[in-house]
Amino acid sequence: MSSDYDVPKIAQLKSVEALRERLEELGCILPVDDQPLSASESSPLAAPLTLAGRDAGNRWCIHPMEGWDGETDGRPSELTLRRWRHFGQSGAKWIWGGEAAAVRFDGRANPRQILATPAHEDGLRQLRDTLVAAHREAFGSTDDLVIGLQLTHSGRFSRPTRSDHPEPRIAHHHRLLDARFGIDPHRADIVWGDTELLTLADDYAEAAETAWKVGFDFVDIKCCHGYLLHEFLSARRRRGAFGGDWEGRTRLLRTVIERVRERVPELGIGVRLSLFDLPPWPMQPGEEPAPEEAMFGQLDWESGEVAWEEPLRLVRALEDWGVTMLNVSAGCPYYCPHIQRPAAFPPSDGYPPPEDPLVGAVRLLEAARRAKQAAPSLKVVGTGLTYLQDYVPHVAQGLIRHGWMDAVGLGRMVLSYPTLPADVLAGRPLQRRRICRTFSDCTTAPRQGWVSGCYPLDPFYKQRPERQWLLEYKQSRS
Ligand SMILES: Cc1cc2nc3c(=O)[nH]c(=O)nc-3n(C[C@H](O)[C@H](O)[C@H](O)COP(=O)(O)O)c2cc1C
Ligand code: SF4
Repeated sequence: MSSDYDVPKIAQLKSVEALRERLEELGCILPVDDQPLSASESSPLAAPLTLAGRDAGNRWCIHPMEGWDGETDGRPSELTLRRWRHFGQSGAKWIWGGEAAAVRFDGRANPRQILATPAHEDGLRQLRDTLVAAHREAFGSTDDLVIGLQLTHSGRFSRPTRSDHPEPRIAHHHRLLDARFGIDPHRADIVWGDTELLTLADDYAEAAETAWKVGFDFVDIKCCHGYLLHEFLSARRRRGAFGGDWEGRTRLLRTVIERVRERVPELGIGVRLSLFDLPPWPMQPGEEPAPEEAMFGQLDWESGEVAWEEPLRLVRALEDWGVTMLNVSAGCPYYCPHIQRPAAFPPSDGYPPPEDPLVGAVRLLEAARRAKQAAPSLKVVGTGLTYLQDYVPHVAQGLIRHGWMDAVGLGRMVLSYPTLPADVLAGRPLQRRRICRTFSDCTTAPRQGWVSGCYPLDPFYKQRPERQWLLEYKQSRS
């Protein structure tokens, strides 16, 4: 594993003070507490939070994390169940969505993505039951556990049948995205028609009803990471009802939300939103987007400024549309992974980090602060903590204490070290050997068509053959 970017690694920052100094050097503002408190010392992280009409018992949230490891028919496998068991053992009381579940077969991002259709009700129940049982066994009560299911259509990044065979269904042709992902700019058959989109909205409603029957407290209408609903937000050149101006580009998300509310009024609704984005990265000369090719909430790399007006308008609109929960993310793991999951070591299809990943982590967390300010009644969870590594507890506590967000979310950290929230709340020292060092193997493995997992740090994945394959693959590229 090598990184070409010569910045201090977090593990080299030996104290909270050293982290603060580094943040200051970088011009970053982030609340960092001196000493994480346990639940019995009245940690802000142990305060309850009302969500979807229920009380979540603390401020830790687990982000959706898929594993490319379901059965090919869309049911969960033993590996999928193991991950959900870990989510239950984490100690977090807000499970944002488990993992992305496709609302229909052609919307799968890979041939092992789980499905959320009525035919898959039993599989979804198995996942939820496994998580709840693990939580009960570890913590006694599950009364204050709030669990959602993330619903998705992968759009431009659909690969439902073979991992090496893209079957994109796109919102619009985009010069830079088409070129980056080998899409013929003249193909009309892969662009969604307006009438088909209404059927798709009904598929979301049907999946939401299935989630409700299974016992999920809410669904997340996934609108991030370059997948279909997110792509629509920047479909400026699309004609008709679902493109063009802000109303048109947000219409699909709004329609899906409305259909879900109509079908299952009792179900909570959350949205995971990429609040800012970059054009496909790294940008080559001539690849600067024209104004009508701008991404939704485009980040100007030179100035560091985000075009905030549209994303914050959408955040406020979500409040009006009956959404009560927001998970703030950014970018896309395929065309700008460094802003989406800041890492010291890039994934195989990535590039050396063009900035200190600490800057990227702060940018993500700051976006959540802005969203919370824009729509105070939304319950907001932030992303970007994993890169803080040994200082996750200090920063998490600072973020909640200063009201930047309502809950702190963990993604990769929960793969390497599932019980971090429980350890912090119990006042136990962190298990340093389990702290995610952002090696990106959990992203590289699925890029090669292998199941995801923390191969460097999780003893279970260390023993799997894919670990050796990964080592050989990385050696062949160095
Ligand atoms: C292996 C892997 C799987 C992921 N699966 C999902 C997913 O199913 N849905 C989603 O919204 N984000 C997914 N993400 C993104 C994470 O939820 C999270 O946003 C990202 O890892 C950044 O958070 P972190 O810095 O805490 O890891 C995935 C990330 C990784 C590394
Ligand atoms: S493989 Fe493990 S250490 Fe590497 S980024 Fe993923 S969770 Fe973190």
